[in-house]
This record gives sequence, structure tokens and C-alpha cells, in this order.
Amino acid sequence: MNISTKMNQIVAQLNQIRVLPILVADDAQNAIRTVATLAENGLTAVEITLRTPNAMKVLAEVVKACPTVCVGAGTILTEQQLHQVIDTGAAFGISPGITPVLAKAAANSGLPYFPGVGGASDLMLALEHGFNIVKLFPSDIVGSTKMAKALGGPFPDVKFCLTGGVTVESTPQLLTQANVLCVGGSWMCPASLIDAKDWAAIGQLAAAAAQAGARK
Ligand code: 3PG
Repeated sequence: MNISTKMNQIVAQLNQIRVLPILVADDAQNAIRTVATLAENGLTAVEITLRTPNAMKVLAEVVKACPTVCVGAGTILTEQQLHQVIDTGAAFGISPGITPVLAKAAANSGLPYFPGVGGASDLMLALEHGFNIVKLFPSDIVGSTKMAKALGGPFPDVKFCLTGGVTVESTPQLLTQANVLCVGGSWMCPASLIDAKDWAAIGQLAAAAAQAGARK
């Protein structure tokens, strides 16, 4: 499958669920169970962050165990991580920011990739490398929908995934902004509930998140 077909499929899925869960996990079995619970409750795509010592292994195991879920990697900070992510078979990659080196590597990699931006200069760098769907991070600090709306003036073809400080309460309002493709957040799978193996509570939070993202 070529890169634009892969990208279109992921964007179609994000456009449908509109809430991307962000998982921070260091234990593969817990992560698999969490991802399955999220998917059972309507959140069929997930970003697994590379923020724990075992994260790359966790990502690889979840990709293998959850073939019907669109499993991507987040917190990609280096070119080396990008290549390791590709080796896991992850469906997409996300970074909190953008650098020329990483943007170039991602553009040449064949992996659907969403760089992070915090303003217009980052966005110009993203566009120079062909990325017109970006993570706006940290969304609640840099201005959220106000920032997305303002950037929509000079950059009308860009779509944003708002991430950082998003809640189930703020989700419906954030999604009313036309150039917001989706929101991302960790609130539906917090470490406290994963550690407690409280799958029922995660299921409830996931269902509420899916509901908040649903088109009314
Ligand atoms: C991220 O990795 O994008 C953020 O840490 C997620 O933000 P949140 O934890 O505030 O949802």
C-alpha cells in the first residue's frame, strides 16, 4: 500500500472517531488489555507514547496483539526512534514538535507521520516537508481552537489534532472548529487505572470519550 493510501485510511479513521487516546504504558500485557478495552468502546485508534523504558517493546507487542486497531507511536523525538517505530509495524507516528532532521527522515520513511507544531514557523517547516496534518501541542497552552482558527488564515489547507490538556468536557467544543480533525488525550487511560487493572473504569471513560467525539 502506498503512503498516500495509508495516510488517507488513518485520516479517515481519525475523522470518524475524532478522539485519539494517548497511552503511556510500560507493561505490554496491561497495554494490550487497555487498547482492547478502548477499541471495544469505540476508540479504534491509539497513540502509544515512547515515554517509558519499555515503550518500544510495548508498542511492538500491541501492534501484534491488536491487528484490528490502528496503533501508532507518539513522542518520536529522534530519527533512530522513527526507524525503530517502523520496525514495529506501527500504523503511524506522531511527534510533540518538529525538527528539520526528523521531518526530512519522516518524509522519506513511508510512515504516515504527524509532526507537532506550536505556531506558524513550525507549521511552515511541516509544510516544507509535505505535512499538512499536524498535532497542535500543548494545545491548551498555545491557544487551542483560537490558535487553530488563527493559523487557518494563512494555512487554509492544514488540519489539526489538538493535544495537551484536552478533557471529555472540552472535547465537543474543540471539535466545532472546522480545521480541527481530532483531539488527543490521555484522560481515558490514566496510569492509575491501568496499574489497578480497572478495565471497567477505562471502558467507561473510553465510551464517554467516544461519545464526546461523535458527530451530533
Ligand atoms: C501528549 O503526549 O500528547 C500529551 O501528553 C497528552 O496530553 P494529556 O496528557 O494532557 O492528555
